Parts: sequence; C-alpha cells; structure tokens
Amino acid sequence: MKLCVIGTGYVGLVGAAIFSDWGNHVTGVDIDEKKISRIQKGDMPIYEPGLSEIVLNNIKEGRLKFTTSIAEGMKDAEIIFICVGTPQSETGAADLSAVWAVAKEISNHLTDYKVIVTKSTVPVGTNQKVKEIILENLKSDVEFDVASNPEFLREGSSVEDMKDTDRTIVGSESEKAFKTMRRLYEHLGSPIIECDLRSAEMIKYASNAFLATKISFINEIAQICERAQADVSVVAKGMGLDRRIGSAFLNAGIGYGGSCFPKDVAALYKTSTDQAYDFKLLRSVMEVNLIQQFNFINKARKYYGSEIHGKVFGCLGLSFKGDTDDIRESVSIDVIEHLRGLGAKLKVYDPEAMENAKKVLGEESIEYCKSEYDAATGVDALFVLTEWSQFKSMDLFRLKENMKYPVIFDGRNLLDKSAVEGIGFTYFAIGKYTNGVKSIHEKNDVYSSAVLKNGH
Ligand code: UGA
Repeated sequence: MKLCVIGTGYVGLVGAAIFSDWGNHVTGVDIDEKKISRIQKGDMPIYEPGLSEIVLNNIKEGRLKFTTSIAEGMKDAEIIFICVGTPQSETGAADLSAVWAVAKEISNHLTDYKVIVTKSTVPVGTNQKVKEIILENLKSDVEFDVASNPEFLREGSSVEDMKDTDRTIVGSESEKAFKTMRRLYEHLGSPIIECDLRSAEMIKYASNAFLATKISFINEIAQICERAQADVSVVAKGMGLDRRIGSAFLNAGIGYGGSCFPKDVAALYKTSTDQAYDFKLLRSVMEVNLIQQFNFINKARKYYGSEIHGKVFGCLGLSFKGDTDDIRESVSIDVIEHLRGLGAKLKVYDPEAMENAKKVLGEESIEYCKSEYDAATGVDALFVLTEWSQFKSMDLFRLKENMKYPVIFDGRNLLDKSAVEGIGFTYFAIGKYTNGVKSIHEKNDVYSSAVLKNGH
C-alpha cells in the first residue's frame, strides 16, 4: 500500500519505519527541514532501540522516503496518517492546533479518495472536527473518509510494540475506510476492533488513564507497606499472578512521568469536567503521583535533617524511564531539582539522556559523570531515579568502595534489598522497611499536593 505519515516524532517516525518494513511504500512528512535531513542520513532524532537500522534499510530498499512537503507526501497515498504532537495546554486540555493545521493543509491538496487517519492522541470529538475542517476547505468535490487509529507504543520498546501489538483500534463511520485499514493491519493476526470515531478516541485515553491508575494504586499500597513493615514488591507479585489483575504496571516508584501519562490523564480529566462530570478517581491518581515524589524526597530530608544542605548525592537516571533519552515530565529531573533546592550537590549519570538533561538542569551544583560508578564516587548517598536495567546489575562492592557513606535511596525498587543490606548499605526503597532505621514516618505524615506545590 502507499502511505503518507505526517509528523516524525515517536509515533510518526516509528510508524513510518514499521509500515515500510511490512512492505508498504511510505513517505514521512515533517515541517522541520533539519530533522528530515538527519533522518535521511540515518541519524535518528530520538533514541529508540532498533529504529535507525529499520529506517536505513527501508530507505535503501526504496520503500521509505521523507519530505517537508505534505502535497508531495500525500500525492499517491491511499492512507494519510496524522501523527503530530498534541501537547498539554494551560487548561490541561490537549493543544490541537497542529492537528487542525495539518487537516487544513491536507484539504488543500486532496484530489482523489483517501482515508485520513488520526494517530495522535486526541480527545473525543476531534476526528469529527477534522472531517469538518477538511470539508470546509476542500478545493473540489472529492470523496474522503476519516478514521481514528490510536497507538499504544511505549517509548524504548516501540519497534517491538508495533510489530507485536495486542490489538488495533480503528474508529470510522465508513465501511470503505475499515476495509482499507484492514488491508494494512490484518496480517498482524491480533484483534482489530472496529468502532465509531468517539469510542476509538476514548479507548486511547481510558487505556493510558487505567495504566496510570494502576501505578498510583500500587504507590499508595507502597505507602501503607512502608508504615506497616510489609514489602510492596512481594505484595505486587502476589497480586499480579491473579490473571484478572495482571503483573504489568505494578512497580511502585517515584511516580509516572513522560510525554503521555501526565498529559493524557490531565486531558481526560478535562474532558470529564467539560462533560459536567467530576472524575474523582482520576483526580486522586494525579494527586498521588505528585505526593509519591515528595514522600521519596522527604525520606532524605528526615534522615539528614538540616544537614542535607551541602551533602553530595549521586543520582542515577535522568530520563522518565529506562531505554529512552526522553526527559519530558521526568520525575528524576524533578527530584534532582528538588534536592538541589535543598542545598545538595549532585553527581548525575544517565546512559542516554545526559545531553537532554543538561539543557534543562544546567551546570549549577551539578556534575555530569561518565558512569554510575563515577557518579557514586565520594558521595554521601546514592539516589536511583530511573529504571535502567544496567543499574540493576551494578557491582555493589565497587559502589560501596567508591562512596563516602553506604546509603542508597532507591526510587524504583531496582536493587535487591537483602543483597544491598547484606553488604552493609542503609537502604531506603519504596514500600519497604529500612533495616536499622526507626520508621521515618510520623503520625499523620500525609502530604497534600497543595503542600507540594508550595515547594515545602
Ligand atoms: C505509555 C503507554 O504505556 C503506551 O501504551 C502509550 O502508547 C504511550 O504512553 C503513549 O500514549 O504514547 P510510555 O509513556 O512510553 O508509554 O511509558 P510507560 O512504559 O507506560 O511508562 C510511563 C511512566 O510510568 C514512566 O515514568 C515509568 O517509569 C512509570 N511506570 C511504569 C511506573 O512507575 N511503574 C510501572 O509499573 C510502570
């Protein structure tokens, strides 16, 4: 099939690459000339395992090309995918200006039947408006259909996720559009759910919001475990083996971040209030996520008291999760900024996100290190902030030798508590009791997001 993919961010670039790898002829379009010329040389603007090989190979095979012209990209395409960004606006709602601009531009060049598909995460009702914009701006009487085809890729594993998807969602009002989309996806063998446009749009938000809810739920269980001296990792394992619950997204930590969950949860909450409904559960999910980070920092504040000022901490991980260089809404960055605000000096390391982090953190009180062991050298304590697998297998003896004091604050429960404590570390994790330290939680030690926002 001939396809056009507009937008070369995570969704568009991975989508264009994999569609071409399936044997389709794909043109990727982006207004950013620099980005396009980088991609054409195989220099990916994002770190995504396996992506550059697929892009280069399909360019070589003549199935994948890139351009800055929508007119050129969509010329022979049967399907046009809209994959532009929908960032969070000041109201919490998604900013759809890029989607509207692309819809208008498509209508200017539409000369024969095409299916116009939104892959960007967009609130309920957006595809209907895309259809209206195109109808209003059409230059001639051309037939077209719109469809909603949300994606469920995770950064860091998006190549695999796209090839091995659990399901494909296609929303449309037209049987002709369903037929076209089936030709693209049915070889995957996984279920294709065909539904109306609005339900397809809601499936995406409901899925992300549910996963975020699972994380906030286990994070609250972790808070109780800490106080009641239970171990949240064991609790999550015991829960997750129940197939009705499932073990995914039950890792307690310092909260979810990234370019999707925070924005999509906020956007769904905004949709609910727009529909005159107060989605109370989702409000709590957001609040718990913020509190989780504060509770973690508070462990260090309580352990060191006023002496936290001037302490040197090693910080492992800057990206919002492992296997990505993306620092958007990264809780690690928030924690580092908070510790710096308390007067600590920080030695930071991340396998991929150092350059991105430098741009937002700057140099003040921060030393950028070459490795995890370098970041641990001479420090008062080590903070594990991102779940990179290489941190899991660190040589604990070497770490201990390098550090000034053997203290670890593990915000991702990445390390093995008994192994770490066995060699003499004081180990603070999430939802676990710390050996040798009297509970750091005081009665009524519950923080509200209002307190957090005031920076206490
Ligand atoms: C998420 C969804 O998982 C994808 O299905 C969706 O397509 C994507 O958003 C999107 O809407 O584009 P992503 O943001 O790449 O993918 O990352 P996740 O792997 O979902 O992790 C999100 C955050 O939750 C990270 O900060 C991670 O550290 C945190 N997390 C995840 C936990 O704290 N605990 C867990 O058990 C899992």
